[in-house]
Amino acid sequence: MNIHLISLPINFPGKKSIVYAFATLFLLTQSCTTPERDVFQKHSISRKGMVVTAHYLATQVGLDILQQGGNAVDAAIAVQFALAVVFPRAGNIGGGGFLVYRNSEGLVQSLDFREKAPSDAYRDMFLSDSTESVMESGLAVGIPGTVAGMWEMYHSLKPNLAFGDLLQPAIELAREGFAITEAEAERLNKFKQLFQDNNDYPIPFVKETKWVTGDLLRQTELANMLERIADEGADAFYKGGNAIYLTQAVRNLSGIIRIQDLSSYKPIWRDAVSSTYKKYTIHSMAPPSSGGLTLIQILKMIEPFSLEMNAWDSAYNIHLVVEASKRAFANRATFLGDPDFVAIDQNKLLSTAFLTNQMLEYNPNFASDVKAIDRNLPAASPKEHYETTHFSIVDAAGNAVAITTTLNSNYGSGIFVKEGGYFLNNQMDDFSMAPGVPNQYGLVGAEANAIEGNKRMLSSMSPTIIEEDGALFMVLGAPGGPTIISSVLLVFLNVAEFELPLAEAVANRRFHHQYLPDEIVVEDMDWNPEVLKSLEERGHKIRKITSMGAIAAIRVLQDKTLEGAADPRDESHAQGL
Ligand code: GLY
Repeated sequence: MNIHLISLPINFPGKKSIVYAFATLFLLTQSCTTPERDVFQKHSISRKGMVVTAHYLATQVGLDILQQGGNAVDAAIAVQFALAVVFPRAGNIGGGGFLVYRNSEGLVQSLDFREKAPSDAYRDMFLSDSTESVMESGLAVGIPGTVAGMWEMYHSLKPNLAFGDLLQPAIELAREGFAITEAEAERLNKFKQLFQDNNDYPIPFVKETKWVTGDLLRQTELANMLERIADEGADAFYKGGNAIYLTQAVRNLSGIIRIQDLSSYKPIWRDAVSSTYKKYTIHSMAPPSSGGLTLIQILKMIEPFSLEMNAWDSAYNIHLVVEASKRAFANRATFLGDPDFVAIDQNKLLSTAFLTNQMLEYNPNFASDVKAIDRNLPAASPKEHYETTHFSIVDAAGNAVAITTTLNSNYGSGIFVKEGGYFLNNQMDDFSMAPGVPNQYGLVGAEANAIEGNKRMLSSMSPTIIEEDGALFMVLGAPGGPTIISSVLLVFLNVAEFELPLAEAVANRRFHHQYLPDEIVVEDMDWNPEVLKSLEERGHKIRKITSMGAIAAIRVLQDKTLEGAADPRDESHAQGL
């Protein structure tokens, strides 16, 4: 069943906490009689605005801001801060992310608020330690970019409301508390040991008894921190008391962040990576995210071939996408890093000549040996993580926001800045620990993504906006490390090539190949066994995993109606105004 929060008194001026409490109560009432996951709204249609986020309360915040006269930029800033409260495993002020924005006139901009390495970081700093212990230490923490990113968005993208007003919903949710969902309760119980190991003081996420669905989570220090940001802007995070507390928390656990690393942090406007696929123009995130380039390389490698139209998941189609993915991910590992530190010849990497050449050896009947596209990178042991979070917003005027943001792992490093009430990321894991050594996603990287002081680590985050014949068509993105790229790709292909309804495209089973390890990862869903057999006969190894990604998508229909789809794989929530 669906809940329709719109039927609640959502725009009761000055009584937002009552509204959120009301919405929470309503959700809980529903969840007493229905399985928790069914409570979240997965599909919505509206002409006046659409918000799709990982948490129903964050979606509600976005809708409230639109209702108050805010545009998609206002709503996005409010949602980002709300997610830091209600979705603490990935929503954040202690992490970073990327924005791709298209205004109603078609101007596309993208903002990099990715973390950067501390100035004292150096190439071999992780060589002597095991990845796992390092990723829960202060050394794993990159300089957070989120607060500076939201501040920059606010000052550059013509919002309608006051900055402080955009933080009020998050402040109220943190101060008054909210009822946690089933998945959050499970995660908090699972991560209790990490929270205790990394923090020798009480934190709101640890309690003696187990968390259960509906428990109230109050975050007073976070409410105070958000209030300071609302009053003073980004300096409240990057300077003064918070800079001292953050630095101390990190340095107490072997970290190397300096106060000056925080005061010198700057988000960067970058050209989105944009290219065509048939009648569509794809705009996605450029390096230091690999997302856009890898996504577009795969699309452009498959474009000259005809897909089989009888079934999107025929062995022929999967094989084609997998072979293109192998090559694109090999390019990712070889060429991509922070463009302020390494030269990336984006024109060449997206050129027809380069991509045609890469597919010269493509054979529809046989899997190519990765050695044939060998980049001297060793086989990696795979580990799947589904952290990170994406949200998509389109307002009534047609301004569109795609933001993907992360702490890297669930709750990041688990290091909690107690005076600020937030977790710090462990984003340093996204660098090549050493060229050729895999990170937590099993991804390998080369020199281009080696660690250097002040450098941004390579990401897979792919906030994406797509036009059809020049008009806004889709806004989408996902969590899931490197599988983000495959999730976005497959949903787009399902809609654009196979004309599947958006919700079906989002729900469909997914597959992924990232060059190394040389295997197709497939979701453990109802695949046609003949298809899997046919892929194996072509020479592919297949490995099943529980699930992949969680798409938050908006599509503009022919009559300009907005269609929102939240992924059935998680507790995400799509709702129109
Ligand atoms: N840490 C996940 C990503 O940036 O892709």
